[in-house]
Amino acid sequence: MPSSAPIDVEPNASRPQPSARRVPPAPPPREKPLGGLGLLKALRTNPITIWTRRHFDEPIVLRDTIIGPMCVVSDPVAIKHVLVDNAGNYRKGVLQTRVLRPGLGNGLLTAEGESWRSQRRALAPVFTPRLIASFQPAMASVAASLTTRWGELADRTPIDAAREMTHVTLEVLERTIFSDGLASEPATLAQAITRYLDTLGRVHPFDALDLPDWLPRFGRGGGKEALAIFNRAVETIMARRRELLARGEEAPRDLLTFLLEAHMAENGLAPDEVRANIATFIAAGHETTANTLSWSLFLLAFAPEWRERLEKEIDALCGDADLASFAIDRLIITKAVIEEALRLYPPAASMTRQPIGEDEVAGHKVDRRTRVVISPWVLHRHRRLWDEPERFDPSRFLPEARQRIDRFAYLPFGAGPRICIGAGFALQEAIILLAAITRCFRLDLAPLHEVRPVQRVTLRPQGGLPMILRRR
Ligand code: HEM
Repeated sequence: MPSSAPIDVEPNASRPQPSARRVPPAPPPREKPLGGLGLLKALRTNPITIWTRRHFDEPIVLRDTIIGPMCVVSDPVAIKHVLVDNAGNYRKGVLQTRVLRPGLGNGLLTAEGESWRSQRRALAPVFTPRLIASFQPAMASVAASLTTRWGELADRTPIDAAREMTHVTLEVLERTIFSDGLASEPATLAQAITRYLDTLGRVHPFDALDLPDWLPRFGRGGGKEALAIFNRAVETIMARRRELLARGEEAPRDLLTFLLEAHMAENGLAPDEVRANIATFIAAGHETTANTLSWSLFLLAFAPEWRERLEKEIDALCGDADLASFAIDRLIITKAVIEEALRLYPPAASMTRQPIGEDEVAGHKVDRRTRVVISPWVLHRHRRLWDEPERFDPSRFLPEARQRIDRFAYLPFGAGPRICIGAGFALQEAIILLAAITRCFRLDLAPLHEVRPVQRVTLRPQGGLPMILRRR
């Protein structure tokens, strides 16, 4: 939501003009690894600050830490081995699951084994390319409401672009996979989710040290209330749909219907799994895409030469076109900007796996105690894999260059059996929203605000993203 009256400041007047050679903000790699306490603190405050220069230079870094042996893999062949070829030998990391379970239960993101397989089978039909394409009009209509609302604001109104993107992506979920609505105002739900991520969603030192659950975890104030708001919305969503079915009315073919049908089937999903997946899809389905859009808007303001190229593409191809039916695969620069934003600021900045049995990864032995970490943050900035990795350069993702990128050097959506089920949905949504915004508006960086990436389950701009909204 807009934060106050328009301001009369020439955007970026107080800072040097962005140039193609400046690099977008990121914590500098450490010269030396953090000691035990430092590591615990950094995992809690901002896990992307733990990486050393070695991580960005070497294909694999294996080290004993206070939380056990950690093996950071940035070699594409070894990553394929862990995520695809020998995926059956790995579970999701215990720490990640511990952080996510209180909010998301045993849903698709956190489940393992047969429970995961049956959930994935039940939900795959919601994310076929055909069904995703059928969501385009709803996504375009949400984008149109956003630009209409912004159009009513005075020129140069300051807004929090991150908050705006969170609301708009929640609205997209409301209009697509939860077609009876989200049972809560997007603003209330968004606030509860942010509060959750800032409290229960942070890695607690006791969890990192694998201490028993009965030991109280301090410093999580507000998390429980946030969770209660979230859980109430999930219960209401389920109750509404059950009432509709009880009245014998036809239910829309959306995520809820597929979940409830899977619940009804023989050996189908347990009630807890249905509930867990509603929570999972609300959380996983908007935060990540909202961050992708926020980082894209930030990077375009940071590198105005790319913003101009994008505007030219949108003006030439979209003009007055109805985005509900527009062939979005023609928007090559729009997609390249989004893919480059996902490279520099991957919303899922790390994926952790725990070996079930011993394995060899790029010649190194790993066993059940080892945390095998595949970090898109590190991988996407790795010196062996990218030219000038810190630089914002969407041309890496223009069609010909794109083909030269190793499949396992670029993993914003993961890979293998646990690959993001919503990748196609997210990309389509991000392209439509960025095109709709760019057609009418130009967003500039707010003067004097320093943007800093922080990892709180997802990678977001710390404290929001103040920007100045200008009409084009
Ligand atoms: C730009 C947006 C997104 C990004 C960057 C992203 C990233 C990821 C990544 C990296 C994984 C794999 C995690 C791992 O292997 O440990 C994942 C899994 C998942 N994502 Fe996404 N995601 C995005 C959007 C979405 C959307 C829109 C939805 C739903 C509508 C979604 C739902 C899920 C679910 C349910 C899983 C778990 C899949 C499984 O384990 O079978 N994501 N996501």
